[in-house]
Amino acid sequence: MNDYQRIFENNKKWIASKKEKDKDFFVKLARDQNPDFLYIGCSDSRVPANEIMGLEPGEVFVHRNIANLVVNTDLNVMSVIYYAVENLKVKHIIVCGHYNCGGVKAAMESKDLGILNPWLRNIRDVYRLHKDELDRLSSEHDRYRRLVEINVIEQCLNVVKTAEVQKSFLRTGYPKVAGWVFDLANGELIDLQINFEKRLDEIRSIYNLVGESTTVNS
Ligand code: CO
Repeated sequence: MNDYQRIFENNKKWIASKKEKDKDFFVKLARDQNPDFLYIGCSDSRVPANEIMGLEPGEVFVHRNIANLVVNTDLNVMSVIYYAVENLKVKHIIVCGHYNCGGVKAAMESKDLGILNPWLRNIRDVYRLHKDELDRLSSEHDRYRRLVEINVIEQCLNVVKTAEVQKSFLRTGYPKVAGWVFDLANGELIDLQINFEKRLDEIRSIYNLVGESTTVNS
């Protein structure tokens, strides 16, 4: 059996199992999508969005890239955020990083990674912003883990800064933004409990952001 055959066999079994639980599963699936969540995560094959959240098809809108970055000149992620907020009207936007992230690790090393260099430079910028805190950590391992977390926090702030999120929040109180980290070693999802109010207060005037509770944790 070749690689493709295995997948098409899996697909047949998956269809059967879904129909067994709900014979109209695909009728409903084809109708529309109405997810409450937008998940922005890493492309890493070990971090499957739906699976780690225990959500079914139709329950989460997903964007993944290397090291879960939200870059304001990236038409891809900006289109996803726009569509999720304006059309799907998601209630929550989650940026989910993960420990042992190869992208974050690569950004900590001085290697030539071709087209990845400018992409990973965004993580180096995150490091520069938080250099004092990171350099205080004595082990490379601790710095690596903390950079994964801080990168999630900074990407959440990038989500908050987008015009769609700002406008929608003023209008409706949604979406709320949260930063999570997935721990590959035990499967646990960790909510970083980001105090957005405090962090936004520090930068609000620079970015001309809207007022109180813009991004209260979910
Ligand atoms: Co990763």
